[in-house]
Amino acid sequence: MTQIATQRLEADAPGIARAAEILRQGGLVAFPTETVYGLGGDAGNDRAVARIYEAKGRPSFNPLIVHLADLDAVKALVIWSDLAETAAAAFWPGPLTMVLPLREGAPVSKLVTAGLDSLAVRLPANPVARNLLRAFGGPVAAPSANRSGRISPTRAAHVLDTLDGRIEAVLDGGRCEVGLESTILGLAGKPTLLRPGRVTAEALSDVLGRPVMARKDREAISAPGQLASHYAPKARVRLNAADWREGEARLGFGPGEGDCDLNLSPAGDLVEAAANLFEYLHRLDSAGAEVIAVMPVPHVGLGVAINDRLSRAAAPRD
Ligand code: TXA
Ligand code: MG
Repeated sequence: MTQIATQRLEADAPGIARAAEILRQGGLVAFPTETVYGLGGDAGNDRAVARIYEAKGRPSFNPLIVHLADLDAVKALVIWSDLAETAAAAFWPGPLTMVLPLREGAPVSKLVTAGLDSLAVRLPANPVARNLLRAFGGPVAAPSANRSGRISPTRAAHVLDTLDGRIEAVLDGGRCEVGLESTILGLAGKPTLLRPGRVTAEALSDVLGRPVMARKDREAISAPGQLASHYAPKARVRLNAADWREGEARLGFGPGEGDCDLNLSPAGDLVEAAANLFEYLHRLDSAGAEVIAVMPVPHVGLGVAINDRLSRAAAPRD
């Protein structure tokens, strides 16, 4: 990955305006929330979202949380419900994320949802975050602003410890008060606690007037292909295809692959390939392919995450 000069921006009006401009250009900005610093990118821009995974060095594509400035913006992306309304009235803005059914045609990259039909949304309370979201005016995808496997940052200096030279800017808003990632409440089905946090399961149960259970299937998650919350195509997937076989849908990678149906990146660029991955799998799948043959993708940098996702898509299913 090429090194870039990471700007350190003050959380004043000019700093926030600059941060919003960087987001608009598809750049990455780390910003404070009341939980931890988030690594923000334009959630509607495939390439910006691919760069989030690249900067973090994440070996797999986990779905990301989308941050918004107000309720109307949230309702434009997800299918709202009475339970969501009740939880929002009690805990938003604040350290709670809700997973809700994604609205069809919502302008969010498939790389944000990892191809799922649900979306994690959050309305942070931190004033710097709110001002940035308002200035940008669109959904911002943001995992914690640290390299994969390192602890979540609660100060701008922590962000720079692992991401200096990998992102365009960090907006310095001082210390995060909660210091622990947001509680995640699943509302795409029965109310479920997907991640514990400052807002407790008891508090959620009280407010919603029904039990909120912790997810029980944690143990099953590590096995490839078994992650229930991950998109898998209907088609079978054949990996490392060295040739094309009759009747297969062809997913290429790299130059000189003129005869494939879709090419993840004709230039052989892994950021571009990641940005196209879920979109192209969906497209070949909905065109009715029985088998999708995928050319080898180099197992370096973002290629590790791409191959992780592809091997899950190719794993045997019942
Ligand atoms: O406090 C926070 O939530 C921080 C700040 C920056 O807002 N963000 C954060 O994002 O922790 P991240 O990407 O590290 O955590 C996202 C979590 C993942 O564990 C993922 O499994 C879950 O949210 N998630 C996202 N979308 C989901 C979905 N559609 N269904 C189920 N889980 C989802
Ligand atoms: Mg994290």
